[in-house]
Amino acid sequence: MAVKEPLKLAEETLRRALDEPDFPDTFSLLGREWRLHRGVFPGTITAATEVMASVLPYPRGGSFLEIGCGSGVIAVTAALSGAARVTAVDINDRAVANTAENARFHGVEDKVTVLHGDLFEAVPPTDRFDVIFWNVPWTWVPEDFSMSTELHSAVFDPDYRAQARFIAEAGAHLADGGRTLIGTADLADQRLLERLAEERGLRLELVRRVRRIEVHRVMEYRLLELLA
Ligand SMILES: C[S@@+](CC[C@H](N)C(=O)[O-])C[C@H]1O[C@@H](n2cnc3c(N)ncnc32)[C@H](O)[C@@H]1O
Repeated sequence: MAVKEPLKLAEETLRRALDEPDFPDTFSLLGREWRLHRGVFPGTITAATEVMASVLPYPRGGSFLEIGCGSGVIAVTAALSGAARVTAVDINDRAVANTAENARFHGVEDKVTVLHGDLFEAVPPTDRFDVIFWNVPWTWVPEDFSMSTELHSAVFDPDYRAQARFIAEAGAHLADGGRTLIGTADLADQRLLERLAEERGLRLELVRRVRRIEVHRVMEYRLLELLA
């Protein structure tokens, strides 16, 4: 895999979101306004958030678990799109506060529970969901890569360890007939992701592929489903 290009793009993303003095604290997406806290993955820095929020199969009247909720666009959109119960989790406490604020701002705080934790650790063990989703930090970096800011885990996943745990642990929180979905892109190491699924006796299937013209290149966003 060519690591150099995604690394350069990802580092640029982090630098702007963390250091740019007048970086906006709001953004518009999907016809709605969103609050953005400093140090949280900005939902407009690539088209990933908008693409995933637009193509996800939200369970009308059902339950939706988002791992890695960031500013909360997807979790809040799930609630606004008819999911009866949404749980949103992030390892970054600023993302947790940001999602809670956007849930209040859009009047769905009664439907959206926001939890701080590493993947499923804060989700009650008996909780089951119709749809589980993670818009993953798709940039592969070696295991010893320095994760020097809290925002690094929005973009980098050392040796795909977090994605391996997601693949291993999601099934325990899936309702009967539920679906586990992964939002990723062509810059990811999809072969490694497929191998991680195979190691668990699972496979990945492409659900949707959306191409977008962006500043640096044409990006291809992929919604994958984890299947038995
Ligand atoms: C690519 S960002 C997506 C953010 C948001 N869902 C969006 O689409 O705008 C990935 C998110 O996953 C979170 N994350 C990374 N590792 C995590 C982990 N082990 N447990 C929970 N969240 C994690 C990051 O903090 C970040 O908010």
